Amino acid sequence: MKPIIPLLLTAATVLAASPVTHTDESKVPAYTLPDPLVSDNGTPVKSPAEWPKRRAEILAHFEKHIYGITPPAAIALKPVARETQNIPDFLAGKATLREIELTFPDTPKAPTLNLLLITPNKTSSPPPVFLGLNFRGNHTIHPDPRITLSTRWMENDPKAATINHRATDASRGTATSRWPLDLILSRGYAIATLYCGDIEPDHPDGIKQSIRAAFPTPDDSGWGAIAAWSWGLSKAMDHLSSSPAVNGKQVALLGHSRLGKTALWAGATDERFAFVISNNSGCGGAALSRRAFGETVARINHSFPHWFARSFRQYNDNESALPVDQHQLLALIAPRPLHVASATQDLWADPKGERLALDHAKPAYQLLGKPSALLTTYHIREGAHDITAEDWSHYLDSADRHFSRSPSP
Ligand code: GCU
Repeated sequence: MKPIIPLLLTAATVLAASPVTHTDESKVPAYTLPDPLVSDNGTPVKSPAEWPKRRAEILAHFEKHIYGITPPAAIALKPVARETQNIPDFLAGKATLREIELTFPDTPKAPTLNLLLITPNKTSSPPPVFLGLNFRGNHTIHPDPRITLSTRWMENDPKAATINHRATDASRGTATSRWPLDLILSRGYAIATLYCGDIEPDHPDGIKQSIRAAFPTPDDSGWGAIAAWSWGLSKAMDHLSSSPAVNGKQVALLGHSRLGKTALWAGATDERFAFVISNNSGCGGAALSRRAFGETVARINHSFPHWFARSFRQYNDNESALPVDQHQLLALIAPRPLHVASATQDLWADPKGERLALDHAKPAYQLLGKPSALLTTYHIREGAHDITAEDWSHYLDSADRHFSRSPSP
C-alpha cells in the first residue's frame, strides 16, 4: 500500500503552487492605467502624425514583456501554396471548399499549414473572408467526410473524440456550433481556418514541433506559443492577400478564448487585417491585467507556461509594474475596426475588464480622427464561455457595416 502522507503532501504542494484567483469585484485593487496617448518619456501625443512613433513604443512593450519577439526572419518567410483539394459542390452546392497546403521549402523545420477555405458560390465579386484558427482540426468545423482528418497532435478531449492525442473519425463536425457555415455563407462571406496545432501543438513541449523550433530565441523575450499562432495567421494572410478566390483587402480576423488572444496579437502586429474580433479572450487578451479579476497573470503563466514570453512572469502578482495594459493592445488595432465580445457567465475572462479595455482604447481612434463609436463594438451574450451563432450574427452585422455591405434581407 502506498503511504498516504506523501500523497497528501503532493496534493498540497500542487494546490499551493496554483496561484489563487477570485471573481469578487470588491477585491479588485485600485489601479492606474498607462495612457495610450502619453509617450514613455511623458510627452502627450497630440496629432495623428505622432501616433506611429507612440504605436511602435507600445508594440515593443508587448513584444518584450508579454508575447515575446517574433524573429524578423520568421516574419519574412513566404509560404508556397498548393491546392490539394477543390470541392465545388460543398454544402449542397452553395459553396466551394478548398484545402490549401502552405509550406516553407527553404526552412525544413517549419511546419506545413493546412488552410481550409470555403467560399460562397453565388457571388459577383471575390467575397470578404473571416479568418480564424480552430482548436481541434479543420475537420471539426463540418461533418462532411471529404474534409481531410487532421493527423496532428490533439489534446485528448472526449467531446471532440480525440484519443491518444489523435483525432478519430468521430471528431468530424464536433465544432459545428462554433462555425455556423450556412449563416456565414448566406451573408456572402467566405471562411478560412486552420488548426492552431499545425503551427504549434498546445502543450509545454509543443515548441519542438513548432515554427519556434526553426527560429529559436533563447532569451526571456523570445516568442511564446501565442506569437507563434499569430505568425501562422499572418502566413495564412500572405496567401489570402493574393488569392483570387477572396477579397484580400477585407479579411476579418477572429478568435475565441486563447485563439482570441492570438487574433488580437496578430491584428496588432499585422496591419493587413482589416477588422479584428476578440471573442471571450480574457486574460492576456482583451481583459485588463491590472484588475486581476478571474484569471490573473500569475495563474495564466502557471497553467500555460508556453503561451507567453518568459519575461511576462516577472508580472505575476505584480501587474501594476507592467509598462502597458491590454487596452493598449486594443489601441494598436486603431484605426481599423475592432469588435470585443464577452459572455455573462464567463467570469474567468472578466467581461467587465474586457469592456473597460475597449473603452480605454477609444482615445487612439479619436486621435486618428476616426469615429470610435462606429469602429469599436462591444457585445455581451447571455451564457457561458463559447462562440455561438448569436456571436457570429453580431460579427456579421459589424462586418457588413465596416465593409459597406448592405445587410441581408
Ligand atoms: C483556459 C484559460 C484561458 C483560455 C481558455 C480557452 O480557461 O485559462 O486563458 O482563454 O482556456 O482557451 O478556452
